[in-house]
Amino acid sequence: MPTTDPAAEFPLARGLPLLGHALDLARDPLATTCRIAREHGGAARFRAFSRECMAISDPGLARHILQQKVDNFPRSFHYRTSRPIIGYGLLTQEGDSWQRARRMMQPAFRSDPVREVATVTARCWTRTRDRWNDVAKRGDAIDARVDLTRLTLDGITAALCGIEPDLETADRFGALVREALLEVRRRNNAIVQLPAWFPGNRQSIVRRMSAAFEAFLGPVVDARMREPEGRDILSALVRARDGEGQPLTRQELLDQTKTLFGAGFETTATGLTWALCEVMDKPGLCDAIGEEARAAGLGSGVAAERNAEINAEIAGETLEKLGLARRVIEETLRLNPPVYTLGRVVAADDEYEGKRIRNGTTLLISIWGMHRGPAWGADAERFDPDRWLPEREPPRHAYMPFAAGRHTCIGMHFAQVEMRIALALICRDFRIQWAPGASRPPMRPQITAAANGPVMMTLERR
Ligand code: HEM
Repeated sequence: MPTTDPAAEFPLARGLPLLGHALDLARDPLATTCRIAREHGGAARFRAFSRECMAISDPGLARHILQQKVDNFPRSFHYRTSRPIIGYGLLTQEGDSWQRARRMMQPAFRSDPVREVATVTARCWTRTRDRWNDVAKRGDAIDARVDLTRLTLDGITAALCGIEPDLETADRFGALVREALLEVRRRNNAIVQLPAWFPGNRQSIVRRMSAAFEAFLGPVVDARMREPEGRDILSALVRARDGEGQPLTRQELLDQTKTLFGAGFETTATGLTWALCEVMDKPGLCDAIGEEARAAGLGSGVAAERNAEINAEIAGETLEKLGLARRVIEETLRLNPPVYTLGRVVAADDEYEGKRIRNGTTLLISIWGMHRGPAWGADAERFDPDRWLPEREPPRHAYMPFAAGRHTCIGMHFAQVEMRIALALICRDFRIQWAPGASRPPMRPQITAAANGPVMMTLERR
């Protein structure tokens, strides 16, 4: 039974009269939640205007919320705000409707279809590599963020829909998804949440985005509904049936596809961008990853063999042999988790280790704070891929870049494979370095915890 002892409360982080921490939260939600949780031993209550909130970076409490008592902690209002924009999909559904969709979609994300992602990523990489070859010849510098966003957008488009749009179409679609996600972020960070009907709530923007999504994705969904035999994820979703033998409707397919795009390329682009920053900061790391890729049998990267490479399937054993690339990605996602906070709400009074968690409180779980917290020791802030050597036993209970429990990212294996292969191929084919005068930009939480400025690098063809 929840205790009524007034002493058994989580500590309170006092803010400004009336506003509480609303301004800080709107300005920088990542730093605010992280700081409040850290200053109070991993969990504290605070107020944002009239909303009661808790900032959490304690791994035990996070697992209590996400796994052990998950039914008592549905998603916060942040996810509902996204519905009109990115659709009624896995990220914004709850209860029975979420469960039905997750069960139907899960098989498309199990390891076999996901292994296909490695092959698709390698094929997409050859397009980026052709561009980078020209850049290397000219001795120019490029902004890694731009090209990695294109690469991951190409990857998810090919894996999800089985198509490879031309550069211009891909760029326009990428811009649309980003615009949609920024609108979600803008609404979530607003100090006051406006109802959908409110005149100032930019409904015309939502309608325009919805029409643009329909124009891009509608014909692809229709084509897969007519011929669902392909190896792409959308075809698998068209073939999926629920317990009653019913398929997903056209609207459901459209919403889920929108959601998968919304969740699945900005995140991996951000992860990969930070991975390249780490590689450029650490002398010798690029060469070591490149050597590992060649030793694993990941082709030669020689231009003359381009066609053979495009058609080659990447085997599961090859992936297994990319241990260093895997560790670099794991450590990058520890120090730079693209999804930095999870929002939940308390459905009924509860308690954790004798302390009260009040009904109606908005819970902000800071993945960023947890990944740099005490479980990681005195050198938590240091980038050290060797933490992930099997014999080192990293504190996995304090690691959740893909969340934990039933809402664990459905694209987790997809993203891990895509990032590992992309990093291995980049380092196999190029020696990457900071452009003269360039260095790692600061992080700014936008849609994801992304680089706030160009990541300028030069390329040397191996
Ligand atoms: C580095 C890359 C990625 C990271 C860090 C990441 C992280 C996350 C996190 C933390 C969640 C949980 C959100 C919550 O419950 O509050 C999540 C959910 C989700 N992710 Fe990812 N993700 C990544 C890539 C992907 C990819 C590639 C896809 C799809 C192809 C994807 C699709 C989804 C979906 C659909 C959900 C909702 C799952 C559910 O509630 O059933 N993600 N992701």
